[in-house]
Amino acid sequence: MKRSVEEHAGRFDEKAAEYDDGGSPEYEACRDLVVAHAAPGSDETVLDLGCGTGAIALALAADAERVIGRDVSEGMLEQARRKAEEAGIENVEFAEGSFRSPNVGDEVDVITSNFAMHHVDDAAKREAIEVIAGLGARKLVLGDVMFFGHPDPEEPYYSPAVDDPATVGTLAEAFTDAGFALTAVERVHDQVGVLVGERV
Ligand SMILES: C[S@@+](CC[C@H](N)C(=O)[O-])C[C@H]1O[C@@H](n2cnc3c(N)ncnc32)[C@H](O)[C@@H]1O
Repeated sequence: MKRSVEEHAGRFDEKAAEYDDGGSPEYEACRDLVVAHAAPGSDETVLDLGCGTGAIALALAADAERVIGRDVSEGMLEQARRKAEEAGIENVEFAEGSFRSPNVGDEVDVITSNFAMHHVDDAAKREAIEVIAGLGARKLVLGDVMFFGHPDPEEPYYSPAVDDPATVGTLAEAFTDAGFALTAVERVHDQVGVLVGERV
């Protein structure tokens, strides 16, 4: 891991107030694809891991019965709670939780994660996907920095000093090993994509 979980939390605490000002077209495309593929039922619970300021969780709230947002950065969570309150969204709950320990008591139906898992190394990603599988979700939608070709730090989205993206192949193997069949692969950019896994 290039940075510890605590270091990432601190980095995002510092960025939290301005985080929503800086979305690129590829980030927005990835976010929209995650929301579209998640498609929860009105009686379903969604867990969004690495929820940040709530981009995915808040977008899914109208469709789901309940949305749980988890993140390691209290600063990002504060922004997410503020946005939920301002929008009058009452079926979303934001609290501390990580990929390793999501801090979720109940079973969930759909798990999403957008632009967050590349902060942990491949072994931790594999562990996270196994933890996710243990929560009983029928679907996992992962949008993130991921390599469709050769890693290129000169191209956007990959900063080797802080990021640990995986290849699409590595992620696909982790999905299938954890019991999710890969049902969609969306390439947004050579270093950004969305994978959808459904329980077999
Ligand atoms: C680039 S932001 C993405 C936020 C949001 N998902 C979005 O689409 O805008 C990455 C988020 O991942 C969180 N994060 C980093 N490492 C994490 C970990 N191990 N567990 C949970 N969240 C983590 C950060 O605190 C940050 O809020």
